[in-house]
Amino acid sequence: PPIEDLVDANDFQIAAKNVLSTKNYAYYRTAALDEVTYNANMFDWEKIRLNGFSFTDVSNINTKTSILGHQFDAPFFIAPAAKAGFASNGAETNLAKAAGAANLLYVPSISSSQSIEEIGKAGVSGQVMFHQEYIWSDTAKLQDELTRMEKAGFKAIFLTVDNTGVNGIRDRYLRFSAGGDAGHSSSFTIDALNKLRNMTSLPIVPKGVKTAHDVKLCADLGFPAVYISNHGGRVVDLAPTAVEVLLDVHRLYPEVFDKIEIYADGGVRRASHIITLLALGARAVGLGRAPMYANVYGQQGVSKLLDIIKKELTTELALIGEADSNNVRGNRTFVNTRRVE
Ligand code: FNR
Repeated sequence: PPIEDLVDANDFQIAAKNVLSTKNYAYYRTAALDEVTYNANMFDWEKIRLNGFSFTDVSNINTKTSILGHQFDAPFFIAPAAKAGFASNGAETNLAKAAGAANLLYVPSISSSQSIEEIGKAGVSGQVMFHQEYIWSDTAKLQDELTRMEKAGFKAIFLTVDNTGVNGIRDRYLRFSAGGDAGHSSSFTIDALNKLRNMTSLPIVPKGVKTAHDVKLCADLGFPAVYISNHGGRVVDLAPTAVEVLLDVHRLYPEVFDKIEIYADGGVRRASHIITLLALGARAVGLGRAPMYANVYGQQGVSKLLDIIKKELTTELALIGEADSNNVRGNRTFVNTRRVE
């Protein structure tokens, strides 16, 4: 369909399904086992209710916020996703440029079609990007990549900790490809984590944390941020959603919210989902599949998607009666989670 016809993130998924080969679309769409967690990510929003306040001044909406001290125009970002190159040529450049134009954070995957250096140069001048990394059992490779990321100008590392050693079993894609071992270290202990922190001066953010226990552990270990994610349902089926983990953190370790920045993702396709996660204490929210799908239209598609989400966000903020998205963060009066609890 012509790009003018697309009005929301779901439209981009339908477009991607039409444009991509069955195999490549399956790679983006797939999730682990019965996809219970994938579906929970997508549909548990139906159990959420947002509360709005009527007697407030919303004439000046602000969505600007900082992530690890860097200023961005909105509290959502493009999460790392492998094989972006299935969607377009120069896929990571397209994502970087679209994010840069909107002053949003982009975090390329280490499994990218372009090199760390190419992506580092791709954005607009002064653009801040972070980079994703896996815990390779090959320490020399890990050190080399971390050094290159730092040299290429990336400002932080999202260290993915949720598929150590093996990948999730993803039936939709297994029908096309054997999948196989992720090749990552499968003995990733706190000792190993501390060694890794000495391999770079960049801040490290563990990504793929899926229990309140590990959120607290990351805070106790002195990480500046932690990223709650079930990897879009692609790793542990029946893993909890970000909403559920955040509720557990509130219940068990509420003090953690003041100690560490928390990012979250999974099933985010709408500003209402972003507002929900902010209200539960997330500082920033990741979009995984949505920008991958949008990238079948290249940079223009990604820009359009980011504009749509941004427009939804300013609109929803006005409608719930809060002019500043920073005031939504951690303010549970905006969200009713009774149906989830
Ligand atoms: C991912 N994700 C991911 N995460 C990561 O840390 N490194 C990676 O290389 C990838 N690769 C990847 C590929 C594809 C096709 C998808 C869909 C996802 C997970 C990603 O960062 C994010 O956590 C989820 O995608 C969020 O869920 P939604 O937004 O896709 O529902």
